[in-house]
Amino acid sequence: MINVAVLGYGTVGSGVVEVIGRNQEQIVRNTGEEVYVKYILDLRDFPGDPYEDRVVHDFNLILEDTSVSVVCETMGGVGAAYQFTKQALAAGKSVCTSNKELVARHGTELLALAAGKHCNYMFEASVGGGIPILRTIQTSLTAERIVAVTGILNGTTNYILSRMETEKADYHEVLKQAQELGYAERNPEADVEGHDACRKTAILAAMATGKTVDCDMIHTEGITGITLADFEFASEKNRTIKLLASVKVQEDGKLLAMVAPFLLPMGHPLATVGDVFNAVLITGNMLGDTLYYGRGAGKLPTASAVAADVIDCARNQGRTVMGCWSEEKAQMADTSETESRFYVRTDASAAEAVEKAFCGKYDPEVSEGTLIGGEYGFFTPVMREKDFNDICRKLGDAVSGRIRLM
Ligand code: HSE
Repeated sequence: MINVAVLGYGTVGSGVVEVIGRNQEQIVRNTGEEVYVKYILDLRDFPGDPYEDRVVHDFNLILEDTSVSVVCETMGGVGAAYQFTKQALAAGKSVCTSNKELVARHGTELLALAAGKHCNYMFEASVGGGIPILRTIQTSLTAERIVAVTGILNGTTNYILSRMETEKADYHEVLKQAQELGYAERNPEADVEGHDACRKTAILAAMATGKTVDCDMIHTEGITGITLADFEFASEKNRTIKLLASVKVQEDGKLLAMVAPFLLPMGHPLATVGDVFNAVLITGNMLGDTLYYGRGAGKLPTASAVAADVIDCARNQGRTVMGCWSEEKAQMADTSETESRFYVRTDASAAEAVEKAFCGKYDPEVSEGTLIGGEYGFFTPVMREKDFNDICRKLGDAVSGRIRLM
């Protein structure tokens, strides 16, 4: 029997207990033995809950119980969750988590700690929720040099953008809907400003390159500046708008990573990924493109990924199987030196001056310029990000919107 402790009985923690309870037959078949939730750590009591007798309030009880070999950390945050994870790994207990913030900030240290104790630190659920993307990179794409990863990694923002597009509803209205449905937090900043996607991008980039990637080095933009006018322009150009994570390994070996909204052609494999779904497109140097799609958030899909990690830990007791990445830091490329093409939105009265500033001339046929209500949208030529930003600075408020083209 594998004894498990679940830290945090919130949405994901209770989902893990539910998945292990409801799918026990499959889990026994895949593990070779019973997986038993012996403890649930939470500050609260849960009277009437079927697992109420397992609820404890003291982490030391779990730490000192040598019969517990796997701990699921579903608390979130980088405070107590970090301390408990370190203590559990130091005691030789494997830890499985959905906590992307902790993995992105301290994954390198926690992986090394696990390896030193011959146990495992697994975090499949931290990227793409229920999509088995990290294990695929670790166990299936092993003969590949991964050259690019492009993904929709945040369900909340994908929901907001999809609804803005289909319902022609404005950003604030849809954000309110997303909050009512429980997708977006009351403080939605981490999602809408791109921080959540940035942490997931750092984890994916580290998995893809085998090196430590600092999430603070990833250029990150959110979706708060996207308007219905942008969608109108996109639709006219047979494009859509998605918040994408983009990771590219350059010829010089440097890593170009960013999270930002992109205008992408409707024919792009990620263009039709709607609502809260996530998808990851991985390009290998031999294999070419492979695409992974599924529920990137939500109680049971996320819990299923944590439970799969529990099974992997149970199957591999006494040996570390997820090497993931080393302490060597990935060399990051300077985003401002890269070249991109942009869509720019400006007030119609400033159309000529703004287009001239970016394109050298005013020619709507070349720039695909279009009036959208009282505004004007057009495409710039391919240009250095630094030059683009310099022009934007000079034009000030005259540039009311800008989105990179994929
Ligand atoms: N807030 C996250 C999202 C939850 O919307 O994708 C899953 O990581």
